[in-house]
Amino acid sequence: MEANLAHIHEEKPFQESDIGHTTLFPSFRVDLRHYSEKEYNKFVKMNTVRDWSALSWKDVGRPYEVKTFSKDRIDYEKEHGHEMKPYTSWQYFNKAFHEWFVKDVPSEQKRQKKQFMNSLTSFKPGEIKSALSEVAKIQLWNYAHRIQDGIWDPRGKRALFEGLHLKQPRILFLGAAEGYEAMQLAAMYPSAHVTMVDYDAYCKTTRFEEFPDTYPFLGENPSTGQDKVYYKHDFNIDYVVDDIRNLTYGNEFDIVLSVGLLEHFPDSFKPEVVDWHRKFLKPGGYAIFTTPRNQIRSRLYYRVMADVMNHTYRELMTLEQMGLYIYENGFDILQHGYIKVHNGIVAKPR
Ligand SMILES: C[S@@+](CC[C@H](N)C(=O)[O-])C[C@H]1O[C@@H](n2cnc3c(N)ncnc32)[C@H](O)[C@@H]1O
Repeated sequence: MEANLAHIHEEKPFQESDIGHTTLFPSFRVDLRHYSEKEYNKFVKMNTVRDWSALSWKDVGRPYEVKTFSKDRIDYEKEHGHEMKPYTSWQYFNKAFHEWFVKDVPSEQKRQKKQFMNSLTSFKPGEIKSALSEVAKIQLWNYAHRIQDGIWDPRGKRALFEGLHLKQPRILFLGAAEGYEAMQLAAMYPSAHVTMVDYDAYCKTTRFEEFPDTYPFLGENPSTGQDKVYYKHDFNIDYVVDDIRNLTYGNEFDIVLSVGLLEHFPDSFKPEVVDWHRKFLKPGGYAIFTTPRNQIRSRLYYRVMADVMNHTYRELMTLEQMGLYIYENGFDILQHGYIKVHNGIVAKPR
């Protein structure tokens, strides 16, 4: 269903009566459907590894390193004569990525196609190639984010997050960016208190602030156990701008979560990054990790979208590789699987 645009100007445009429906807006999809069994089996594969202690690096191989960097990073390094530092690379990444989330995709598709047709009349190969690459990017973004909903993937995230038996949990989101997954968790485990942490202030002031107030999250009504629709302003959220390494919390969180963090650190840092997920957990708390999958279509995505996505060190992992990093750094894996474009793991300190 394409969106009636008047709808999105209402404060809470979706109600419980919209559950079971999906609506396509110019910048994103709203999806209040549950998976049918057939769809679940197509997009979600859970718990395929029987015994993590039996896996070794020899069996699973090493992650794939993405080596096509954005033009901004290449230009920066030429100009400054040194490698871009991680913090700077995240500032570039967050700005570039956010600009895509707010695009009116159908208008942009029209504009880029027109530009490409005009470039053909220039007979300049450079101009034609560059216009074609812009068409490819917007087409791929439309497919990956808007049509397939592969980045937010609410149904996949719910499949990964379900069954944690938590009441009013405290949730810590490390490297939160716009904070999507913690909001999905807060809808599923009502009256949660969420602490989002990101050291790039732009994530708080722009990525999170501009996350649409009207985007509905499907969760639970604690008094009836039925489905309920929540919005960003229904959640209890603190957003902390700081380096994760400076945090001084005790063992106070029921869930410590990261989405797309572990794969940005070379192996020598991975034990420390895994440890960030243990340090602030209450006894019995859950650590949740997701990372992008190593599959042909993801490699293609990061190549075509290099200027938007590739300012930082980045790996693509298999579920087994991701799980082994977590397992060998002291966690037992309770749930693992892949959901569209990400691997996901729910774990507890051993
Ligand atoms: C790849 S993003 C997470 C993916 C996210 N869902 C998105 O849409 O961009 C990782 C985030 O972690 C943050 N980050 C990386 N290292 C950090 C650190 N040491 N302390 C705090 N935040 C950090 C970055 O600023 C970035 O916003």
